[in-house]
Amino acid sequence: MTSKRVLSGIQPTSNSFHLGNYLGALKQWVELQEGHDAFYCIVDLHALTGEIEPKLLRERTLASAAQLIAIGISPEKSTLFVQSHVPQHNQLGWVMECIAGFGEASRMVQFKDKSSKAGADSARVGLFTYPMLQAADILLYQAHFVPVGEDQRQHIELTRDLATRFNTKFGETFRVPEGRILKAGAKIYDLQDPTSKMSKSSESNTGVLEIMDAPEVNIKKIKSAATDAGREVIFDEKEKPGISNLLTIHSSLSGRSITEIENEFAGKGYGDFKAEVAEVVVEYLRPIRDHALELLKDEAHLLTLLHRGGEKAQKTAASTLDMTYKNLGLVQ
Ligand code: AMP
Ligand code: TRP
Repeated sequence: MTSKRVLSGIQPTSNSFHLGNYLGALKQWVELQEGHDAFYCIVDLHALTGEIEPKLLRERTLASAAQLIAIGISPEKSTLFVQSHVPQHNQLGWVMECIAGFGEASRMVQFKDKSSKAGADSARVGLFTYPMLQAADILLYQAHFVPVGEDQRQHIELTRDLATRFNTKFGETFRVPEGRILKAGAKIYDLQDPTSKMSKSSESNTGVLEIMDAPEVNIKKIKSAATDAGREVIFDEKEKPGISNLLTIHSSLSGRSITEIENEFAGKGYGDFKAEVAEVVVEYLRPIRDHALELLKDEAHLLTLLHRGGEKAQKTAASTLDMTYKNLGLVQ
């Protein structure tokens, strides 16, 4: 296989992905399937670092798989699998923990944010070791590229550092991967608070557009999006964060340039603009939601697809782990 390998992962922590996940990360996954050897992983073990609710975790893992297939990840073209189906992730994760320094792990912004929210006493060890498991996810597959959102840059840097350090000390074992961070449209903001990013952990979900929401729900959310002073539809992130965010969303989904959309709405008001954004979003998401709902009706079939992906993933993962153990002097 001469095509470059791509790997990415997403946590099954909600019943629906939101538009930020889609435009910031998942859309790239679909594009990268073409011409690459893509591995996409639903990182259920990482999801254990948050509140553990077994029934929800199961539902969300299946819902995530269904949505990934519905947005266009093809189980034939790509290797789509569930992290816990491939035990090598935990095995290499431990090795990474023994390579990483306490200091560098303590500097991870995601850990600092999440542990300070949880409070020092309730933050769990898994939250701290999370980036080393993520490094294992990536390095097991000898990935060339890791498509992720901007917030994952630091974890990719750590992965690169760990790979380089291991290779220098124990011999060439891992490919040092590169992050692929989407620039335009990479960050989508909350519709109600357009200075914070759209996030599943927002206090209220009225500013979050979810793939699995019924069309009426998303129309309502867009029509009641916070707008800015003035009445012109122009892109100005500083003065008009709300309108700029809606322009980014429109442009990313319709494929039209922001200037073209600004021109279309010259002399018209925010109301007309929002109605069109709602139409663009809802019509884009409708077939995706319908397909995902269809897949969720046949759980056995969905699981078969995931198990097949897991078996394929395991072949590559086992070969990297063998070489790692051998280079470490673990008797085989
Ligand atoms: P999360 O569900 O927050 O763990 O994010 C999953 C993926 O979606 C990550 O690669 C994030 O970088 C990306 N992502 C999440 N929220 C946004 C957002 N508002 N804008 C752009 N990308 C996002
Ligand atoms: N930490 C990533 C996130 O929160 C999810 C993730 C886990 C991941 N393992 C990965 C992303 C490997 C890319 C590659 O979005």
